[in-house]
Amino acid sequence: MFLVLTLLVPAVTVYADDWGMGQANARLPHPSMFRPVSTPAQDISTLAVFVLMVTTAIFVIVSALLTYSVIRFRARPGDGSEPPQLYGSAPVEFAWTAVPVLIVFVLILTTARSVYTVQAARRPPRSVAVRVELTSADVVHSFWVPQLAGKTDVIPTNVMWMEPQEVGTYLGQCAEFCGTQHALMLLRVVVDPRDQWDRWVATQREVAIEDTSVASGRDVFASTACVNCHVVRGVGANGRFGPDLTHLMSRETLAAGAAHNTTPNLKAWI
Ligand code: CUA
Repeated sequence: MFLVLTLLVPAVTVYADDWGMGQANARLPHPSMFRPVSTPAQDISTLAVFVLMVTTAIFVIVSALLTYSVIRFRARPGDGSEPPQLYGSAPVEFAWTAVPVLIVFVLILTTARSVYTVQAARRPPRSVAVRVELTSADVVHSFWVPQLAGKTDVIPTNVMWMEPQEVGTYLGQCAEFCGTQHALMLLRVVVDPRDQWDRWVATQREVAIEDTSVASGRDVFASTACVNCHVVRGVGANGRFGPDLTHLMSRETLAAGAAHNTTPNLKAWI
């Protein structure tokens, strides 16, 4: 018993430890594609609702007919006769061919319209629109923030226009298996009002602050292998392989969104 508990407790602790992300994400809207706040997510959501309604209607009608038939035409005691055989009935054959073809045709048309709207998107007229160029440093990923846009492969020719209409932070996830760390490749997109965005850009462009209280950490960073992969502007670190760490502590998360950026988590991560 003791042995089982000894093995179980660390396992439970590991599973329960989400690096503070459960709490951090609980404040954010649920990343549902049915609550779009931007183009092209609105087109995709409309299509999804339509397809859902059509498929639900088909399910309900077929289930109702099936239930009715099972009850109404069930075998009764003493009745060993065969039911009437309807081989080659032209009206029945026509009905069960034409109706599915019609349904599929309607779904193809509505899907094609949405695909065209999303893929042929030109620069939207309003100046708030955001252009995202999807390129990758390694393999093909898929950019997916359900409330803002549909899944789009991260390959160099792909470009996406978004027009967010509500400020907030929106959660996403890489939507294509891209390696063993795929499940930890999370996304969060922050939509700011214009003035707040301008302030953020200005702050991010500044070099790292000079602070004597963090001088020893800066020395360790500058004198070890960290500088080979990371940029910290103002410290002489110019590595381009890893993320720019100049304003690391202005970020809410670490490790592509897998850990809340707190001092204990940062220490554990390093
Ligand atoms: Cu990147 Cu999955």
